Amino acid sequence: MDAIDRNCRIFVTGHRGLVGSALVRFLRAAGFARILTATRADVDLRDQRQVDDWFADQQPDYVIHAAGTVGGILANSERPADFLYDNLMLHATVLRAAWQNKVRKLLYLGSSCIYPRDCPQPIKEEYLLTGPLEPTNDAYAIAKIAGVKSCEAYRRQYGCRFISAMPTNLYGPGDNFDLSTSHVLPALIRKFHDAKQVGAPEVVVWGTGAPRREFLHVDDLARACLFLLERYDDSRTINVGCGEDVSIGELAGLVRNVVYPEGEVAFDRTKPDGTPRKLLDVSRLRALGWEPGISLSEGIRRTYSWYLENAGVTEPEGPVKLANSGGLRSVGQLR
Ligand SMILES: NC(=O)c1ccc[n+]([C@@H]2O[C@H](COP(=O)([O-])OP(=O)(O)OC[C@H]3O[C@@H](n4cnc5c(N)ncnc54)[C@H](OP(=O)(O)O)[C@@H]3O)[C@@H](O)[C@H]2O)c1
Repeated sequence: MDAIDRNCRIFVTGHRGLVGSALVRFLRAAGFARILTATRADVDLRDQRQVDDWFADQQPDYVIHAAGTVGGILANSERPADFLYDNLMLHATVLRAAWQNKVRKLLYLGSSCIYPRDCPQPIKEEYLLTGPLEPTNDAYAIAKIAGVKSCEAYRRQYGCRFISAMPTNLYGPGDNFDLSTSHVLPALIRKFHDAKQVGAPEVVVWGTGAPRREFLHVDDLARACLFLLERYDDSRTINVGCGEDVSIGELAGLVRNVVYPEGEVAFDRTKPDGTPRKLLDVSRLRALGWEPGISLSEGIRRTYSWYLENAGVTEPEGPVKLANSGGLRSVGQLR
């Protein structure tokens, strides 16, 4: 246990994103008084010179590196060069500056989608680099793997206390509810909300509803990040998840119950299902004593409240019946 002084200077990169904003909220609540942040306009984190100047000026003691260029299947397949370049540069610059400025500890966030496409389930940390990647996001995955390996390399060559963690699928306040790019959980929230507004009888989910996925509330991830900064110091990456998965059908039922209990879930079985299961093995994190605190149904409730308050939408008073309402499709992307 390496309790971090709440007066330290802790730099959260990507603080306006889903993960970074949760980190800032959590660290503030935990009593951190000197949280450093920089917008993209302040510092383009892909630019070594700007990053060096910023580190020299601000002298952070700790860094949580949550900046990234992220997106769903469509964005990944249309912009693989950008995903590769941005994510390579984002960690290359920050890790180098952290080493040169003697940062006490740095936490780098990878992603569960960097594990081989066909790994056994649940996915153990040692499965990294044991098989071919999912081709739809291999450029992103290669860059994130390089980030994990860079932490190991700085640790080996320079003795830097750089650690990396591999979060599962995240959701929560600040999520992306744009149906053309959103992931499955916020997409379902949005679709049930839209269905409720127009009184549509059902929401149609692509596929059979059978694929299983794991979801962690981003506030739980933020808590895990501080836990790891304080208690984990190992070159091996560590999985962060809740250790349980649900089928997409079950997930749709949970979202329906929170957002629009009168709506029905229907499945379009002509559409593909994707990978049958993706679940992280979190036994190493559990053995350190960390447990998630927010159940999936509670997390969905909190996320829907945030959506109502922040996304410029209002809680519909009740379904408005439409003639010939044919149901709304949900196509949220699975990872
Ligand atoms: N979301 C998930 O389910 C998930 C799961 C596992 C791992 N992760 C990892 O967690 C990290 C953050 O993901 P997220 O979902 O929070 O992403 P996000 O919501 O898109 O936020 C990314 C943040 O990075 C910042 N950023 C990107 N490029 C930058 C640059 N060149 N200079 C400065 N800032 C830059 C963005 O700034 P702007 O606000 O200016 O755009 C934004 O604040 C990523 O590394 C991702 O791999 C996410």
